[in-house]
Amino acid sequence: MSRRANGTRARLYGDLAWTWPIISPPEDYAGEAEAHWRILERDSRIPVRTLLHLGCGGGHLDHTLKRHCQVTGVDVSPTMLDLARTLNPDVEYVQGDMRTVRLDRVFDAVLIADSISYMCTEADLLAAFRTAFVHLPPDRVFLTYVEQTPDTFQEGRTTSTTHARGGVEITFVENLHDPDPRDTTFESRFLYLIRDRGQLKVEKDLHRCGVFPLATWERLLRKARFEPLRVDTGEQDQEGGTVATFVGRRPPTRARPSGTVRPTARRRTDPRQIARHSRRS
Ligand SMILES: C[S@@+](CC[C@H](N)C(=O)[O-])C[C@H]1O[C@@H](n2cnc3c(N)ncnc32)[C@H](O)[C@@H]1O
Repeated sequence: MSRRANGTRARLYGDLAWTWPIISPPEDYAGEAEAHWRILERDSRIPVRTLLHLGCGGGHLDHTLKRHCQVTGVDVSPTMLDLARTLNPDVEYVQGDMRTVRLDRVFDAVLIADSISYMCTEADLLAAFRTAFVHLPPDRVFLTYVEQTPDTFQEGRTTSTTHARGGVEITFVENLHDPDPRDTTFESRFLYLIRDRGQLKVEKDLHRCGVFPLATWERLLRKARFEPLRVDTGEQDQEGGTVATFVGRRPPTRARPSGTVRPTARRRTDPRQIARHSRRS
């Protein structure tokens, strides 16, 4: 496991976090949040009343999800959590790393959305899956999704968007580059053209993200003891959107076949033990 989450070094979640609600407004997340909720509702065998959202960022997804259930958001960045608390004062937020955080309670479902892309090694991805697992009781589900695989990654892909709010206009440019296709990471370089009341400022940022074949996702979900199910949402695309959505179910506790006796109970009724006990008394 890498010592620091790669997302924690990113300026977007630190000194440039104030740009987040401008370049990626909460209202843009309503459709995605509803799509996640539909899958959680459909694949959960019991109603989802509590949801743990790991890597919740500025709480833009939570803004919609909280209408359906009680959300607890976890993020490694205190600055992003401040934004989330401002947007959703009615949601509980906790600072923590999705690879290691332990809240010592369970939830009806766990979600890791776009923040999963900051898991750069198999050890990171597995650790995040294990965090999801320990926060679920048996028979409950975990939802996550894949944004890039080695097959869909497009070297040099560059996108740009422009948004304005409160007299500030930001053109946000993202460029993808994979310096070493043999490893499990790629670089996402960001350029921010910030025009504040006529004055232009240019800021740069570098994010390192993980890229794994779908077979690795499935293998690691199984290793974390989930029963993985690949879900067709009908919304998948190869142009930088979702490649695959996974639901992992924590297996139900196996009911003992009727008529079987616990080994400890058998020991207690072992005639030799009874004899030993009665000799001692
Ligand atoms: C793209 S933002 C998520 C935005 C979010 N979907 C929203 O609704 O605002 C990615 C988030 O992942 C968080 N992150 C990165 N690595 C993390 C880790 N190891 N544990 C928890 N959060 C992490 C970053 O701090 C950042 O807030």
